[in-house]
Amino acid sequence: MFAVPSHVEEVKKLMAEFAEHHGSAGRRVVITSGGTKVPLESRTVRFLDNFSSGRRGASSAKYFLDSGYAVIFLHRHRSLYPYTRLYTGVNLLDSLQLVTGKEDAGQILVDQNALPNIAKVLKRYQAVKAAGLLLPVEFNTLSEYLHLLKAAAQALSSIGSKAMFYLAAAVSDFYIPAYEMPEHKIQSSNGPLQIMKMVPKMLSPLVKDWAPKAFVISFKLETDPSILLERAWRALETYNHQTVVANVLDTRRGYVVVVTKDTQQELVLTDEEVQKEVEIEDRIVSNLTEAHSEFMSRQV
Ligand code: PMT
Repeated sequence: MFAVPSHVEEVKKLMAEFAEHHGSAGRRVVITSGGTKVPLESRTVRFLDNFSSGRRGASSAKYFLDSGYAVIFLHRHRSLYPYTRLYTGVNLLDSLQLVTGKEDAGQILVDQNALPNIAKVLKRYQAVKAAGLLLPVEFNTLSEYLHLLKAAAQALSSIGSKAMFYLAAAVSDFYIPAYEMPEHKIQSSNGPLQIMKMVPKMLSPLVKDWAPKAFVISFKLETDPSILLERAWRALETYNHQTVVANVLDTRRGYVVVVTKDTQQELVLTDEEVQKEVEIEDRIVSNLTEAHSEFMSRQV
């Protein structure tokens, strides 16, 4: 149904190497992050985009790495990225100074005020990189996302319950099948566009077929808080996975509800914590890593 993107085979190999490199001992998490893009024409001028800055995924990746997980970071091209996200909005060239004096000519100085904590962040980033604990994989379109998610699930199938899927990406529910997609730019003079089809929820094959032993977390985003929990429960019933993290667009940085079949737990940041730049992802990840341990212990 969705054309296989050309680079999937290459990425599959990288994922398989990543899975093997860390042996069967450690835990691994596939984090999806950012929004998918759905082209409306083969020679694309227009597309539909799902909203997500990628902050939830990028920030969570850091906390998973700190908790000892190896991370496949499946993210939208140019969405926020672990560690570097802290410096988004900084003009890199403005924070560097070229030394011109005779002795140190050519050296570059970093303005610590423009890039706060840079040494600490760089040290951690380099350690993660050197240990091969973070595998970044990019997607743009819905089709790329779907194929790459399946590839990641297959790559991690051998580690069973040690694998976690943390599906924070905002994935389109609509697309235009390739056979119905106009080649050229759609003309507005042809009237309203009515050719979108529903995208099947990928949670279904993920839970049933691709990674049946894994610990799977989906996210539920709503703008109307009054329907949030009911939607989260419905997702759990429909897909039979372990957890839904429910959030409302406007309050998502400071409030989420972690919902399982038997429990619902609110995670809230106080104003003081927000001031101190505590991140809700720290709480989410700590809650889920604990739940993952319990899940694994029930599988043996
Ligand atoms: O990136 P930020 O700006 O920090 O924002 C974070 C976030 C709000 C995007 C994130 O916290 C979040 O809620 N992500 C999920 C948003 C979403 O698309 O929800 P949904 O109701 O459309 O989908 C529910 C779940 O089903 C998601 O986990 C999604 O990965 C999955 N899905 C969706 C569509 C589809 N065809 N197949 C799927 O499996």
